[in-house]
Amino acid sequence: MNGGVCLIVDVDRTRLQRRVDTRYLDVIADDLDDAIAQALRAKADRKAISIGVVGNAALVFPELLTRGVEIDIVTDQTSAHDPLSYIPVGVEVSDAAAFARDKPEEFTDRARASMAKQVAAMVGFMDAGAEVFDYGNSIRGEAQLAGYNRAFEFPGFVPAYIRPLFAEGKGPFRWAALSGDPADIAATDRAVLDLFPENEPLARWIRLAGERVAFQGLPARICWLGYGERDKAGVRFNDMVARGELSAPIVIGRDHLDSGSVASPYRETEAMLDGSDAIADWPLLNALVNTSSGASWVSIHHGGGVGIGRSIHAGQVCVADGTALAGQKIERVLTNDPAMGVLRHVDAGYESEAASGVRVPMRDE
Ligand SMILES: NC(=O)c1ccc[n+]([C@@H]2O[C@H](COP(=O)([O-])OP(=O)(O)OC[C@H]3O[C@@H](n4cnc5c(N)ncnc54)[C@H](O)[C@@H]3O)[C@@H](O)[C@H]2O)c1
Repeated sequence: MNGGVCLIVDVDRTRLQRRVDTRYLDVIADDLDDAIAQALRAKADRKAISIGVVGNAALVFPELLTRGVEIDIVTDQTSAHDPLSYIPVGVEVSDAAAFARDKPEEFTDRARASMAKQVAAMVGFMDAGAEVFDYGNSIRGEAQLAGYNRAFEFPGFVPAYIRPLFAEGKGPFRWAALSGDPADIAATDRAVLDLFPENEPLARWIRLAGERVAFQGLPARICWLGYGERDKAGVRFNDMVARGELSAPIVIGRDHLDSGSVASPYRETEAMLDGSDAIADWPLLNALVNTSSGASWVSIHHGGGVGIGRSIHAGQVCVADGTALAGQKIERVLTNDPAMGVLRHVDAGYESEAASGVRVPMRDE
């Protein structure tokens, strides 16, 4: 969707096929030679395409590096946070579940050793000049546990790219149509385009998502909105339900990966300016604020994305049922929830345009 050529390595062909069936992946290559040839051809033709190839990333990443294939950006999204679901080199996908169940310690050791090989190749790409980042699956931590000591030389994606957005209260805002009717999401898409006409990246995403992303379960949409934006979108959706422009209520939530609701030293709060990575007050405070602001559902959970025991985060959901009371609650929750993100980041010493004009006691001192 950003105009690039993407090569995706997955050890399990059925996973790639599922992504083709749901339009997340364009093609599956015959083998690695075919995948590389297709990728280089598409790059030369400046054609955006995603190409899947079946293989173990712990073998294919080093192979791509050895062959000197020019790759600009490298990341990984195997479920490395749970070593029992990362397939070690030499293990067939069909044998993995029984092996993990019967000999979990041996499986874990072998999975971590394979992750160390994959991460070493990622560091090799970094040394060769590629942009390399951890996409929030703890693969660096697991590789380090296997004894590979350069794992943390490439950054997590939050400190590398996302933190300035978090400082503005921006994060993954999402909603689902309880009617089950895709037309309701299409109407909310139009409302978002109408509300934020100056935000070109947002408009580009909303248009492409409408064309290309297949719904799974209830029709739903996600997009990044920040402080001062989420409340506007939520109130508009509620008004649309009230006016009968949507055929049933909308539920509005967000990811647990968000600006003011998480303590996760290997992901969202990695390398904070003031060293407050593991301070867990923020998600608790966020849950209290959302509860008292009137959210329909507030939750506190842990382990999201990085594994049990490594993070704590709070979630909120609001139901836009078209009533005036729902409108008031939505406006309050969707103002205060991202505001917590702004405050959390200003408190840690980050600049935030959203915080100008807001009295932040921690900043006054
Ligand atoms: N950054 C974010 O915002 C974000 C969002 C969602 C998930 N995550 C993290 O990303 C990871 C993946 O999540 P998911 O929901 O896509 O999981 P998933 O289980 O759907 O996908 C993981 C894939 O990895 C493949 N795999 C396992 N071992 C492999 C190996 N050795 N080589 C190649 N492929 C292998 C599996 O076949 C599977 O298709 C998790 O750790 C998750 O916590 C991060």
